[in-house]
Amino acid sequence: MKRRILVVCAQKGGVGKTTTVVNLAAALAERGHEVLVFDLDPQAGTTVTLGVDKRSTPYSVTALLKDDPLDVRDVILPTRTKGVDLVPGHINLTRSEQLLEQMIARETVLRDNTLPGLAATSYDFVLIDTPPSLGLLTMNGLSLADEWLLPIQAQYYSWEGVDQLAKLMLNMTQRLRHPVVLTGVLLTMFDRRTNLSSQTAREVTSLFGPWVFDAKVTINTRVAEAPSFRSTVLAHDPRGAGAAAYRQLAEEVVLRCPPWQPQEHEENATLLAEDPALPGELGGDGERRRAVDLPPHIAEDLARLQPLVDRMLGRASRRIEMPPQAEPPMVARTPPPVAETRSSPAVSAAEDEALWG
Ligand SMILES: Nc1ncnc2c1ncn2[C@@H]1O[C@H](COP(=O)(O)OP(=O)(O)OP(=O)(O)O)[C@@H](O)[C@H]1O
Ligand SMILES: [Mg+2]
Repeated sequence: MKRRILVVCAQKGGVGKTTTVVNLAAALAERGHEVLVFDLDPQAGTTVTLGVDKRSTPYSVTALLKDDPLDVRDVILPTRTKGVDLVPGHINLTRSEQLLEQMIARETVLRDNTLPGLAATSYDFVLIDTPPSLGLLTMNGLSLADEWLLPIQAQYYSWEGVDQLAKLMLNMTQRLRHPVVLTGVLLTMFDRRTNLSSQTAREVTSLFGPWVFDAKVTINTRVAEAPSFRSTVLAHDPRGAGAAAYRQLAEEVVLRCPPWQPQEHEENATLLAEDPALPGELGGDGERRRAVDLPPHIAEDLARLQPLVDRMLGRASRRIEMPPQAEPPMVARTPPPVAETRSSPAVSAAEDEALWG
């Protein structure tokens, strides 16, 4: 199979990025895949959870973020999880991020330094954990990846930061000529007992539709405590709900092999129609409906975000209830030539300015 490189990325902190990386890696390995994990977070939570002592690793991913890099094969370490290897994180990544500022092609240093050595390995999946920011470490993780997995915690204002990420993705597609396609959105720390989780699930599904994975990770003590045992939840509690959710996620990720295109009628039917915590939302024809009691400011936020998300997903906008836009300013400079992209329509220079403005 063709190697797949996925980055787990969300600007928001504490939404389950690291938990997703380590447990998805373990679940993919359980299915017989060879997995390599990159830990790009100075907190090095992935490194610790996979049972590697972050103080005594000979090298870390920092060795790939400089002008005279090591070969990635010299940085890779085995982990306690069979089938999962690691490029460890390190506290010094903070310093690496500062040094990257001075470097040419600073957003693609990791990709440029890693791909030659990686080509000589046999990993089926590469998973990348990123810090909770849109700084250069995250940018380097994104530019190494071809696919993106977005974890969203099922709580109030869960889509906060999604607009920045969507803009970043569109910008990367245009500027770096490197599209990163969204493989899926994972709802994490879902609490079936609360209306808030159900409401969030509805909002996220309304935004992303079939891109939301059927697998949902509920709040689970075993998932939370596994890192303190230097363990994934698949090893810590193999028969529990947490392990089951990550196995289901692994199955869905495998099935969404690019160029995956969702069927619109697949609209995450299990989430919206069958979950008793989510009162019937689907019409007989599978049409999605928004909950009636959505506060106006949230409805406005979602309406504003929807066209951006639709554009990032490369699909036609379906519900534009935006206030009329002012005419874009005249742009004197000639727009750069734009390459064909896989997932997102090209962005004009004026739009680009609007994205970053
Ligand atoms: N399903 C779950 N049930 C209970 N606790 C969870 C669950 N998933 C993650 N957690 C806990 O939530 C906290 C945040 O998770 P995690 O570290 O994976 O988030 P993160 O997005 O990587 O955070 P950061 O942005 O700081 O890197 C951790 O203490 C983790 O153990
Ligand atoms: Mg983390």
